[in-house]
Amino acid sequence: MLDKLNEIEKAALESLSSISDQAALDAWRVANVGRSSPLMGIFSEFGKLSKEQKPVVGSAANRVKAALESAEEGKSKELKIATLAKSLAEEKLDVTLPGRTVKVGKLHPTTQQLRRVLDILAEMGFQVYTSREVETDEMNFQMLNFPPHHPARDMQDTFFVEADNRGDNPILMRTHTSPGQIRAMRDASRAATDPLNPPSIRIALPGMCFRYEQITARSEIQFNQVEGLAVGRNITFADLKGTLADFVRRMFGEGARLRFRASYFPFTEPSAEVDVECFVCGGVGCQVCKNSGWLEILGCGMVHPVVLQNGGYDPKVYSGFAFGMGPERQLMLRNKINDIRYFWGNDVRFLEQF
Ligand code: PHE
Repeated sequence: MLDKLNEIEKAALESLSSISDQAALDAWRVANVGRSSPLMGIFSEFGKLSKEQKPVVGSAANRVKAALESAEEGKSKELKIATLAKSLAEEKLDVTLPGRTVKVGKLHPTTQQLRRVLDILAEMGFQVYTSREVETDEMNFQMLNFPPHHPARDMQDTFFVEADNRGDNPILMRTHTSPGQIRAMRDASRAATDPLNPPSIRIALPGMCFRYEQITARSEIQFNQVEGLAVGRNITFADLKGTLADFVRRMFGEGARLRFRASYFPFTEPSAEVDVECFVCGGVGCQVCKNSGWLEILGCGMVHPVVLQNGGYDPKVYSGFAFGMGPERQLMLRNKINDIRYFWGNDVRFLEQF
């Protein structure tokens, strides 16, 4: 029986050495150490042995069983390593493949332009003052010297939040950033230690404005404005012109030319609109500037005495200038965007370009 055991071991190890995949190894285990293998046959014949033979054959059989099992384990590891090596060799990383670009999010074009405007104004000494989007009729119109039946107050132009029960002072969505002028001046004049001597102001008021209008390629119900306000002693129209000429050069380039055109706003006197030379055609005349050679970019003027008074500043002592511009409009002019609705359209093909 000992000879038979040796033969079993020799044959098993021999067949194991030629195995090269997991399936064959599984079959080998069933055949050589499984329940009906020749080795297990020896164990079942145990009963036939004499008392003296039993321990000898028993320990030999156990040794062969252990040897076969450890050989199988070794083979199994060997196979795993071979499989891994093979897959590593096959799945080579091609570092010469062009990379895939990762799309990163970015700021909305209007936000980018708002920040450009505010950066320039900050360099020129204008501090940001944020005012509210929900306003009263008093702040949005009355304090800004709008005559009682001015067309801008019409239902046509204004979103009223709460028109009932507030008499002639309904709550509304601001139609421009100018009510922030009153709030900023009142903040400063009321906090002043000497009420007759409130501090000078130089601020930029950014934010969303709302108008109850038909949405078209040229008008949206929601858009941004940036308002500028400077109040102090001896501020003149020359300061306004110098400030805006400087702003235009910083925003549209050193060579940008501009002109002031007389205009009207209830809260400024005198009032003007500023045009820049059309940067599409260079002033020759084209579709964008409607053949005029000029593009209107902002409204401005000297703060009306009544407005200064309403803000707590004595118009006999103080003067000031104000201007208001639209970042979306500037982007449209700069990038020849022919429809303002793109800004709220949420079409990534549009947004991606900025
Ligand atoms: N508030 C004006 C508008 O919405 C712009 C403006 C601001 C004009 C300040 C003059 C001074 O059109």
